[in-house]
Amino acid sequence: MTQALVRPMAQGDLAAVLSVQHQSYAAAFHEPIEAFASKWAASPDTCWVAEHEGAVCAYLVCLPIEQRNLPALHATDFQKGMHPDWLYLHDLAIGPVARGTGLAPQLVERALARAQAMALPAAGLIAVQGSSAFWRRFGFEIDASERLVSARKLASFGADAVFMSRELGATA
Ligand SMILES: CC(C)(COP(=O)(O)OP(=O)(O)OC[C@H]1O[C@@H](n2cnc3c(N)ncnc32)[C@H](O)[C@@H]1OP(=O)(O)O)[C@@H](O)C(=O)NCCC(=O)NCCS
Repeated sequence: MTQALVRPMAQGDLAAVLSVQHQSYAAAFHEPIEAFASKWAASPDTCWVAEHEGAVCAYLVCLPIEQRNLPALHATDFQKGMHPDWLYLHDLAIGPVARGTGLAPQLVERALARAQAMALPAAGLIAVQGSSAFWRRFGFEIDASERLVSARKLASFGADAVFMSRELGATA
């Protein structure tokens, strides 16, 4: 595949983003478009897509989160808090045709750099579909402390879901 362009996600991308989501996740994770739209609208500066030959082939949606206010899976009413203190990497998907092309590290690094620019001291995510080894490559470790995500909320993401977090130093 020739090089894809990473750019901020726009409202007009949402349908294509959902199509990549459907190709990348088991049905339980498919979100209604309203859920995606509310997250994008709350924080468009932390959502990106990769576009190849005019088509969206990958995306990363992140949200600045205040304390334990991580949105429940499929929530349609996400609102950004006044004093976010960590960046939640909500959803990363590389469509099947774009896998292994380096877009995943590019998108993750974009998000970590944005979190640092926002002076957020930490980042976290819920690893599903056996992806924890992938996330370890970017400095994330399993965090079972319940400091940011309760066991109950985590369980709503499926039996294999694990919360992972990392601190953001000056050189992430
Ligand atoms: C997980 C996902 C984002 C990785 O994207 P990808 O294009 O396959 O990743 P890349 O090939 O660019 O991988 C980057 C590196 O991570 C490694 N890697 C990829 N998937 C991995 C996994 N599941 N476990 C461990 N390492 C993994 C690659 O081998 C590569 O290593 P290298 O740089 O030494 O060659 C992609 O497979 C995907 O979208 N899956 C479906 C959605 C999903 O499960 N998202 C994560 C949910 S939290």
